Amino acid sequence: MQLTPMAPKCGVEISGVSLADCTDAQMDDIRRAIYEHGVAVFRDQEFTPENHIAFGKRWGGMDINNYFPQQGDYDEISVVKKEPTQNTNIGGAWHTDHSYDQIPAMGSVLVARELPPTGGDTMWAHMGAAYDALSDDLKAKIENLEAFHTADHVYKEGGLYAQTDMGEHLRGQDLKTGAVHPVVIRHPQTGRKLLYVNTAFTINFVGQTRDESLPLLTELCNAALTEDNQCRLQWKPGTVAIWDNRTSWHNAMNDYAGHRREMHRITLSGEALAA
Ligand code: SIN
Repeated sequence: MQLTPMAPKCGVEISGVSLADCTDAQMDDIRRAIYEHGVAVFRDQEFTPENHIAFGKRWGGMDINNYFPQQGDYDEISVVKKEPTQNTNIGGAWHTDHSYDQIPAMGSVLVARELPPTGGDTMWAHMGAAYDALSDDLKAKIENLEAFHTADHVYKEGGLYAQTDMGEHLRGQDLKTGAVHPVVIRHPQTGRKLLYVNTAFTINFVGQTRDESLPLLTELCNAALTEDNQCRLQWKPGTVAIWDNRTSWHNAMNDYAGHRREMHRITLSGEALAA
């Protein structure tokens, strides 16, 4: 296997491996690369829905997404799609998947199924690099803070998606979510310190109201997005991306009006997060 960084601080492209039938040793190397770089990209993969699910099982379990449409025959596969007539896309803002769960998902495996002629890239930002770049003052300020995360404002009836043309395609409007996590976590496998708040699902710091939390939350979210801790993926047929939701944020570009894009996602189970 050959590893080529996508950008100085985020993302790696891995070649010379077939995800559908990689060995256990290759799987271990892939895991390590994803934990370290935040996201790994694989090109020219033959990866059927059955391969996708079998791969997810090898990671140690999958979380079913309660909101996205499902792929019909396979409950584990969520469909992330935008029709030519729609304006809104899924995941079109910086976020990390499932931070609103008590035990947030470790990662996601996204497979390109139908791509627009141009556009529809995905970006990632590395939250270890983001934490490292914070000032010492800011690091001291957030060291022992915890934050509350929820998805209710995004998916509920009358919520952010319901106000768009994506609303009718989503499920789970009546679900209630909520979880408290440290603002600075240690990566469960590498031990690296990571900034663990995000613009989509983090609402407030514990012991503070939303209004009281917003100035620091905004400062952290702005600081997390320097150009040098990001990478960008231009999808091609056969591309698979696997990312670590603790190490990275991601953002799906919505710049392909009038065209269809369909991706299949499996969400990999994670573990409780600690400071
Ligand atoms: C997501 O999982 O947030 C969607 C990413 C993408 O469609 O590129």
